[in-house]
Amino acid sequence: MRVLVTWGSKRGGTAAIGETIAHTLEDAGHDVIAVPARDAPDPRGFDAVIVGSALYASRWRASARRWVERHARDLTSIPTWMFSNAPLDAIADENASEPSRDVRSLMKRIGAVDHHRFDSSTDVCAWAKEIERELGLTRPSPPEELHGHSLVRLFEYGAYGWAICSMSFAVLMPLSRPDFAIVIHAITAPIAFALLARRYQSVDGARTPLAAAVMWTAMVAVLDVTLISAVVRPSFSLVGSVTAYWLPLALVFIASWSAGAVTEMLPVTSSDESRAIRA
Ligand SMILES: Cc1cc2nc3c(=O)[nH]c(=O)nc-3n(C[C@H](O)[C@H](O)[C@H](O)COP(=O)(O)O)c2cc1C
Repeated sequence: MRVLVTWGSKRGGTAAIGETIAHTLEDAGHDVIAVPARDAPDPRGFDAVIVGSALYASRWRASARRWVERHARDLTSIPTWMFSNAPLDAIADENASEPSRDVRSLMKRIGAVDHHRFDSSTDVCAWAKEIERELGLTRPSPPEELHGHSLVRLFEYGAYGWAICSMSFAVLMPLSRPDFAIVIHAITAPIAFALLARRYQSVDGARTPLAAAVMWTAMVAVLDVTLISAVVRPSFSLVGSVTAYWLPLALVFIASWSAGAVTEMLPVTSSDESRAIRA
């Protein structure tokens, strides 16, 4: 059978795992191509794919992640096994075997057959032999549509966040001194977006924390100017104010990016699972 083995590696450790898998399959008589993900060919024409990466801050290397994303459609019809080289997670929790959030989303998206987490003591050949026994017998699982991946979902979260923040601004502005409303707004905006980022990153297929933070900050910037300053308070020059506009924008960006990045590193919990199903 024609098998593609590919990996994302920074310092060579994961490349060695990929090559061991490839040699094991070659020894069993298969026709194997083994290459880093940045040089990996189109998976069409292969009977099976094995793709893995080192974990850095609980994420796969971008080269491996992007290769899977780019070929996601083709991979839904090719049996695909995934692995993560995660020696530090194994030290932190010797039972850690679940894929990280980004890998979990990729697996669901392509209907991957299986995922294996390697630590320094795992027997790579044994896993490769398990795959060898299943080659030709296993079909990909049905792929799942990941709600978190849709841009509409990302916009929805941004709109919620903006509505919560601007409500405090719009209600307090006519009732109290503008300074007070501005301070409350500058405090509520990052808190609201940090909570939303925490929730958004728990949904399967969520965009990266940085992409979400950029999108939401841009939405707040545009919506604040067009709606708050034009409709609610036409006389107030929002863009000219550091404390009413630029500071909350900076805080929204920092809060949503950092809360999203921290959430992404946390293991998937059962409440995340049920949230992902409801989403
Ligand atoms: C900055 C940094 C972050 C890391 N994050 C993780 C992690 O989140 N989980 C883990 O198990 N290992 C983590 N590691 C360990 C690497 O995954 C490990 O060294 C791996 O063997 C590197 O593979 P490579 O040689 O293919 O790049 C991290 C290492 C570094 C330097």
